[in-house]
Amino acid sequence: MRPSPMHCHRQQNVGFLKLFMVLVLSGIAMHVSDPDVPSSLRTLALEGHLSFHNISHAAKDFGNRFQFLPSAVLYPRSVADISATVKHVFQMGPRSKLAVAARGHGHSLQGQAQAPGGVVVHMKYLRATETQVHAGDFPYVDASGGELWIHVLLESLKHGLAPKSWTDYLHLTVGGTLSNAGISGQAFRHGPQISNVHQLQVVTGTGEITNCSTKENADLFFGVLGGLGQFGIITRARIALEPAPKMVKWIRVLYSDFTSFTEDQEMLISEEKTFDYIEGFVIINRTGLLNNWRSSFNPKDPVQAGQFNSDGRILFCLEMTKNFNPDETEMMNQEVETLLSKLRYIPSTLFQSEVSYMEFLDRVHVSEVKLRSQGLWEVPHPWLNLLIPRTRIHDFAKEVLGKILTDSSNGPILLYPLNRSKWDNRTSAVIPDEEVFYLVAFLSSAPSLSDHDSLEHALKQNDKILDFCKKAGIRMKQYLPHYTTKEEWKAHFGASWEIFARRKAIYDPLSILAPGHRIFQKKAVTFTENSQQMM
Ligand SMILES: Cc1cc2nc3c(=O)[nH]c(=O)nc-3n(C[C@H](O)[C@H](O)[C@H](O)COP(=O)(O)OP(=O)(O)OC[C@H]3O[C@@H](n4cnc5c(N)ncnc54)[C@H](O)[C@@H]3O)c2cc1C
Ligand SMILES: *[C@@H]1O[C@H](CO)[C@@H](O)[C@H](O)[C@H]1NC(C)=O
Ligand SMILES: *[C@@H]1O[C@H](CO)[C@@H](O)[C@H](O)[C@H]1NC(C)=O
Ligand SMILES: *[C@@H]1O[C@H](CO)[C@@H](O)[C@H](O)[C@H]1NC(C)=O
Ligand SMILES: *[C@@H]1O[C@H](CO)[C@@H](O)[C@H](O)[C@H]1NC(C)=O
Ligand SMILES: *[C@@H]1O[C@H](CO)[C@@H](O)[C@H](O)[C@H]1NC(C)=O
Repeated sequence: MRPSPMHCHRQQNVGFLKLFMVLVLSGIAMHVSDPDVPSSLRTLALEGHLSFHNISHAAKDFGNRFQFLPSAVLYPRSVADISATVKHVFQMGPRSKLAVAARGHGHSLQGQAQAPGGVVVHMKYLRATETQVHAGDFPYVDASGGELWIHVLLESLKHGLAPKSWTDYLHLTVGGTLSNAGISGQAFRHGPQISNVHQLQVVTGTGEITNCSTKENADLFFGVLGGLGQFGIITRARIALEPAPKMVKWIRVLYSDFTSFTEDQEMLISEEKTFDYIEGFVIINRTGLLNNWRSSFNPKDPVQAGQFNSDGRILFCLEMTKNFNPDETEMMNQEVETLLSKLRYIPSTLFQSEVSYMEFLDRVHVSEVKLRSQGLWEVPHPWLNLLIPRTRIHDFAKEVLGKILTDSSNGPILLYPLNRSKWDNRTSAVIPDEEVFYLVAFLSSAPSLSDHDSLEHALKQNDKILDFCKKAGIRMKQYLPHYTTKEEWKAHFGASWEIFARRKAIYDPLSILAPGHRIFQKKAVTFTENSQQMM
């Protein structure tokens, strides 16, 4: 069905930037042909290799909306390969248009891991560093920046250990999530993934290989964490581990009252003795919703649960887990009872399940397999992730859930609180200026070309949500931010813009790295406006 992006032959007329735009099914492919690219890059001595032909996959991502062809893809065999490539581009100076993007697993939403006309570094192929687990009093794991979190988990579990802080989905790379933050239901306690890193090895925008930590090159270390790939390519990360539980008790309860729902969430994240994972999601206008949980969750009271009807109301699902080992089942059950007794959910809607720790952490992969089999995975994903200050979450919910969104059939809507004290303000990550804020994630899919399932409809809803925040003066921050102008980026960073720009000038002075974010632009490059308006 999908026509593959056209590969344009390299031009012989030297010195000119040419743009070739090819319409493909879900976006525009752009090939910036830079005549000096192949000849100069071909001279590089590498352990891995550069490909100039097999490049179309590097112009795709999970968002499925933006497609920019690079000129070359680096399949690195070593950190030295990445260093040599970046150093080479750096030494070409500001007259070259070449930029370099690290590509983790390509799960970006708007081309952030793409490099129009430049070089994409396929981090998955960097296997120079074996994943190495170090047991002991303060266990940690050293992993390659291109490693998937699922592999980090599997390796750690062999030693009875596991990382502390997660994302909901594990087929993402270490370097990719550390460049953003890495947020899930453990972050209220452990902080995001960027709060659980001891040390990094980074290739900066000059091609230098540098170790950094809170003690050594601390400015680079904090800059890279949440740094959107702007200051260096993470080639290795040392990640904190803890003893892994064997099992989790996995619980879902429903609320129809938003205030009770959020008060209970906030109470749970503030308790000393509490659940190990706390999230929540919104269910809008769904009838018979309890059916699709039947397979994996058992209602505490099957008769009452069977009769429960949402009647088209908006419902809020609080989701939590408690870790345990089989010999502690009784104690765990008592603790869970105590915690549940403090909550105000609709009594007939208590659902629970017991699964292995691995099965719980890898839960989204099950949905991926199902969606893939239905052809619903590789569709446009106009996701919108917002961090909303606690004091405005009611205003936000009232307007957005009550008026702007009339159904949530386009995908899940996550909503759960986080505590600022678990974030390190020396990192590049941008969060609201309040002690408690909510992650609100609209994870829409747009499988069809018209109506409620269309990209156009979802983008319009996103715009309405953003417009409302602006008009109502809600000082939210985008997570996995996407902006197209420098002014917007400055507003996003606010007071930390100066630090961000200063770090860029030090670590990537020619603006070579991660061009897909369009925060800084290499002077020689003239970007063509993106395809969004044309869709
Ligand atoms: C199904 C799904 C579920 C998700 N769930 C969560 C979640 O629960 N919590 C959460 O926080 N996020 C979540 N995400 C978002 C995820 O964190 C981002 O997609 C992120 O970009 C990681 O994806 P990736 O590893 O494929 O990186 P890519 O998309 O390939 O890259 C992301 C950015 O980082 C840069 N980059 C990649 N590798 C490196 C590196 N080694 N060094 C420096 N820069 C690098 C790229 O240039 C790009 O700018 C989810 C995404 C999907 C698709
Ligand atoms: C092209 O690249 C993709 C992605 O890295 C790889 O899976 C595929 O095997 C490559 N094809 C060829 C012909 O090299
Ligand atoms: C960087 O750290 C690694 C692992 O700790 C170490 O082996 C290496 O020697 C360090 N490199 C430098 C230049 O300090
Ligand atoms: C957030 O963290 C601070 C500092 O640890 C704590 O005092 C506060 O109670 C926490 N708030 C919530 C809602 O968890
Ligand atoms: C709820 O969904 C149904 C169809 O699924 C639709 O007809 C109805 O208009 C929706 N209700 C609201 C309030 O949007
Ligand atoms: C970071 O937080 C610390 C302690 O809360 C505070 O003293 C400091 O001013 C903050 N720094 C920045 C840059 O906001």
